[in-house]
Formats: sequence, C-alpha cells, structure tokens
Amino acid sequence: MKIYVLKQNQALGFLEEPTIGNIHFTYLDGISPQSYIEGIDEEKNVSDDGLFLIFQNMFPENGQIEALKTKYEIRTTIELLLYLEDVHGSYTFLTQEDWSKHSNPMDEEHTNYVYSEIRDEVLANNYTFPNILEHALNIPLEKRFPGATTSGRVIGLSGFQYKFSIAKEDTKKELCISKDGRSYYFMKPYSKHHTTFMPHDKERLYIPYLLINEHLFMTLARDLGFDVPYNAIIKDGEDYHYVIKRYDRYKNEKFDHVEFATLLGYNSNTKYDATVQEILKKADEYIGKEGVEELLLFFYFSTLIGHGDLHAKNISLIHASNEIGETNREISPYYDISTTHIYRGLKDREIGLALLGRKSKIKKEYFLQLAKKHELRVKDFEAKMKDITDNFVKLFPRLIAALPASILELPYQKKYGAHAPLKSILDKYYLERKKYIKQYIDDTWIKEDVHDIF
Ligand SMILES: Nc1ncnc2c1ncn2[C@@H]1O[C@H](COP(=O)(O)OP(=O)(O)O)[C@@H](O)[C@H]1O
Ligand SMILES: [Mg+2]
Repeated sequence: MKIYVLKQNQALGFLEEPTIGNIHFTYLDGISPQSYIEGIDEEKNVSDDGLFLIFQNMFPENGQIEALKTKYEIRTTIELLLYLEDVHGSYTFLTQEDWSKHSNPMDEEHTNYVYSEIRDEVLANNYTFPNILEHALNIPLEKRFPGATTSGRVIGLSGFQYKFSIAKEDTKKELCISKDGRSYYFMKPYSKHHTTFMPHDKERLYIPYLLINEHLFMTLARDLGFDVPYNAIIKDGEDYHYVIKRYDRYKNEKFDHVEFATLLGYNSNTKYDATVQEILKKADEYIGKEGVEELLLFFYFSTLIGHGDLHAKNISLIHASNEIGETNREISPYYDISTTHIYRGLKDREIGLALLGRKSKIKKEYFLQLAKKHELRVKDFEAKMKDITDNFVKLFPRLIAALPASILELPYQKKYGAHAPLKSILDKYYLERKKYIKQYIDDTWIKEDVHDIF
C-alpha cells in the first residue's frame, strides 16, 4: 500500500511500509529539494523506528489512536494517517486510488498570502475577558465525553488533551460539528475523569477547571504582548470546555507549521527532554536574534506563571507564506498555555523544559546568561523581563476580578467533603508567584513583603 502525502494540495511523495515499522518515504519526480519536508531530506528515505517524526507528531496522544487501530483492525502505521482529519498545517493523506482521482492542483484556485499580513485577522483575538460563549452546544454527548471507543476519524493535531473540530455559527448562536471538512475552530472539552475528585485513586490527577485556566493564561499572554489566537470557554454542567480558533487556516488556504519537537528530533514520549538552549539554537537558524529574544521572553513569562507543561511540542514555527516552497519561518502564535501550579502534585517545576539544567528555581541570572550567549543587549533584556513581571503582577488580579461569581465560586475539592472556592486557589497562587519572583528573580521587583505570608 502506498499513501500519498499532499502539502498545499500538491502531492510531494508517498509512504510505504513493506514490513511493520519499516517505513519509506519517496519524493515524486520533479519535487524540488526546497519543498522537502522538515526532517525528510533525501529523495528516498527510510525510517526503522516508526513513522517519520513530522507525521508521528500529528497523532493525538490520548488513546484515540489505539481505539482506532482496534476498531478498524489497522495493522500498518502509515494507514493510520488516513484516519486523520483537519490535519496540522496543509497536510492531506490519500490512498493511491484517491490520489489518482484527486483533481489537478493547477485546476484549483489558490491564493498566496504572506502570514504576517493576515496574522491579526487570523488571530482575531480582541475579545473581552472572560469570553464565555452563550452558544447552544449542539455537539452530541458522546463526542464531548467519549468513552473508550472512537468513531470515524480523529483530528490530526497532536496533544494529550482530547480535541475535535467544530463550527462556530454566530448567527445561529450554536457550536456544532463542522460538516464541510473546513474547520476554523476546535474544541477541547473538559475531562470528567480529571475533574472528579478521587483522593484514594493515586493514578488519577485532579485537574478541574483546566480550560478556564487555559483561557485565563492565554489571555494573560495576549495582554503581555504575545500573539495568541481567539479563544473562549463554554459551560457544560460542572465545568467549562475550551474553544480555539485555528491559526493555520485563512479563507480557503492553510499555513504549514512545525513544532520544535519535530525540528529537534523529539516525539511525544521525549518532548520534555529537549532543553531551552537547544530550542533557542534551532530558533536562531530560522528566525535570528529578534526571534530568539521573543522566545526567551516567552520562556521567562512561562517561568513566572509556572507553566509546568511547556515542552517541545508546545512551541512552533510557522511558514511565512502558504507557498509550497516557502523556506522562511516565524514564531507561530502561542497555544496551550496554562499554569500547573494551582494543582496539587504539579508544583514541582516552573517549566517543562530544562533551562541551563533546571526546570524549577530558575533565577534571573540564567535568563541573562542566555541573552548574553545569543548576543542580545543584556540590560535591555533585563528591562523587558521587568516589564513582563510588572505587567503580570498588575494584570493578573484584574483578570481575576473580571471573572463572574459563577466561576469564582466554583468548588475546588481539598479533601472529601471539604472544598474551597476557585477564587481562593487563584489568590493563593498569585501570592506564591510573587514570592517566587522575590526569591528567585529579583527581590526589589516586588515591593510588598510576601515572605511571611505562609
Ligand atoms: N489554534 C491552533 N491552530 C492550529 N494548530 C494548533 C492550534 N493550537 C494548537 N495547535 C497544534 O495542535 C497541537 C496540539 O494542541 P495543544 O493545544 O498543545 O493541545 P494539548 O493541550 O492536547 O497538548 C499543538 O502542538 C499545535 O501543533
Ligand atoms: Mg500541547
């Protein structure tokens, strides 16, 4: 069996798997090396340990794939690609038969856009916080809260959280499953498993209100100057789901993007093994000093908020245009930002990637050291760190104050029969972060005395 890989609607080559796990990728005649896929650099390529990373990193990490394999008795790995829909960037996977029926790309209308010119329009992130949708949730229960089985196809975006494409119909005020295969939004529903408090079940993490958390910290990132796409939450029973706009779709066009994990040779199992230094070095090759500075500031912001889940699949580069041979990259909009520090058992690290050997207790000097290594002006960089800190300290309480009582009073279980309102958890978190800044970043940057609070 051959599986054709299309990018920007044009077939680049095909995958074969002569024996299980032994995977070949061959470019079609006439494909210029400029259009080769990241990490697949030869005309003919062989991988002995599973799928080429770029494709492997498109699979969801949450059991959906195992369910698909069982349900459809899928034996080869490459076949799984046929079950992905609304795939990462512009990728499409077709059987040989479907490919031969595929229309000639020349027949299709295609418009080239420069991403930086349409970026703001794509992101559309000027919502007011909190952005709580009042739309009807016309999404079947089994789609929002699936059991073990997966029906049909799964979204071709990776990640641990279950997600699926949706349509956001503002005139009809409803959220529904997208029908025409064109997806501009996706939903991450909350997990009933992780919002149910079971203190005796040691395997089970209690991470309620994770999507309120994501909406809050995505907004904070936006307000501190980082680009993020439009996002919102919607209530469903005792918790909230999350809706996010795709940053790789514009009109009928799609933009390719690549996670740092793929660029550096990490997969879903090793995504926490990359280091900040490796990411900056790789970034330097594509986006130069300015990009490196922005990323380092993003690592600083992530440290401040305690983003323990910041790993090599949670930062990406996006192509500068939707031309198939585009070789320029820029930092993609940011996504998947939340704090792990409001959850018990998840406070041991500030970020998920080691920065000069540390994931916690990261000091200001370490950031300055990296700034120096990349030939940034250290004094200016430090001033930018201070700005981010001041803005975090100033804006976080304002965001909390903007939340309605119905969210602030949500019960957060402490032990059986005892809960605290979510507001008290967020207030305590804020004090802890200020204490962190004082202790590890700069004790003159926080005026009040927070040492004696606990
Ligand atoms: N708004 C978006 N538009 C397009 N692709 C996205 C968007 N957000 C995330 N992605 C891609 O999907 C992957 C999974 O999304 P993410 O939010 O990280 O999910 P998870 O919480 O499951 O890790 C990301 O690594 C990124 O490549
Ligand atoms: Mg992620």
